[in-house]
Amino acid sequence: MHGIIATWRMALEGIEKADAMLKEGKNASDAIEAAIREVEDYPYYKSVGYGGLPNQDGVLQMDAGYMDGDSLSVGAVCAIEDFANPVSIARKLSQGTVNNILAGQGAAQFGTEYGFEQKKMLTDRAKRIYERKKAELAQNDQLRPYDGHDTVGMVCVDDESHVVAATSTSGLFMKRNGRIGDSPFVGSGFYADSQVGGATATGLGEDIMKGCISYEIVRRMKEGMPVQQACETAVNQLDETLKERRGQAGDISVVAMDCNGNWGCATNIEGFSFVAATQHSAPVVYLAHRLDDGHTVFEKADQQWLDAYMHNHSAAVE
Ligand code: GLY
Repeated sequence: MHGIIATWRMALEGIEKADAMLKEGKNASDAIEAAIREVEDYPYYKSVGYGGLPNQDGVLQMDAGYMDGDSLSVGAVCAIEDFANPVSIARKLSQGTVNNILAGQGAAQFGTEYGFEQKKMLTDRAKRIYERKKAELAQNDQLRPYDGHDTVGMVCVDDESHVVAATSTSGLFMKRNGRIGDSPFVGSGFYADSQVGGATATGLGEDIMKGCISYEIVRRMKEGMPVQQACETAVNQLDETLKERRGQAGDISVVAMDCNGNWGCATNIEGFSFVAATQHSAPVVYLAHRLDDGHTVFEKADQQWLDAYMHNHSAAVE
């Protein structure tokens, strides 16, 4: 039984590609990498890869992670600049026994040595959005990080029950130089264990890390909890704990899939979108929200929502 699930509508085209690969019998590692690369390459997504928004110095720094649920191998890059596909570098790094997580210059050096494609990742469009934000900040003198769509995170299972998880993001818009979120950190941004399943998160990295939420979901599944319940209880508990101890909780949304292709999601925000496909169902975009009783419900996004999404994302930037 194969399947793949991903955070946010932006993953749709990548999921379609991965779904076709899985149907042809390709493995989960190749499928998830191809899916995330598709998102990284698309110029209109402002929080992943090419077209991503820069940090407060106007520099685009990206994080990515990859985990193989058979061997538990992990690779990640942090604050890497000007490489087309950080997820591919993360996957390559997962194949070593040491030096699995590299940051900044070291990550770039590795990417260069292994011949990964280098590319100017800051687009004119992203630069215009940055300049506009900088002008607004000069007026208001108040820095509020961009809190819209962020990490693309995916979990994929192939017909051999091989589970992998991966992420890619440019992180928070206007973050400090060198800031790293949850996305390249195993256990926080992603986790995979082929004997159980995998999970991945999106939202405010600083808060997601406080609960190591991706590991926490897989741990609950390992103890026998169904995937949807594991997602909901993990998000709700972290959300409550953060509110109790800190007075507030940042955005936290997760998706997960077990090794049999059953999937789940949970969120503490309104309008979290995600995409899922399995052997028995074509890729579908869903919209999720949390009810007062703590359950997360989701429904298929309708055509009007899908059209508005594409319109907003490709709208001209003055
Ligand atoms: N969740 C992505 C980040 O905080 O950078």
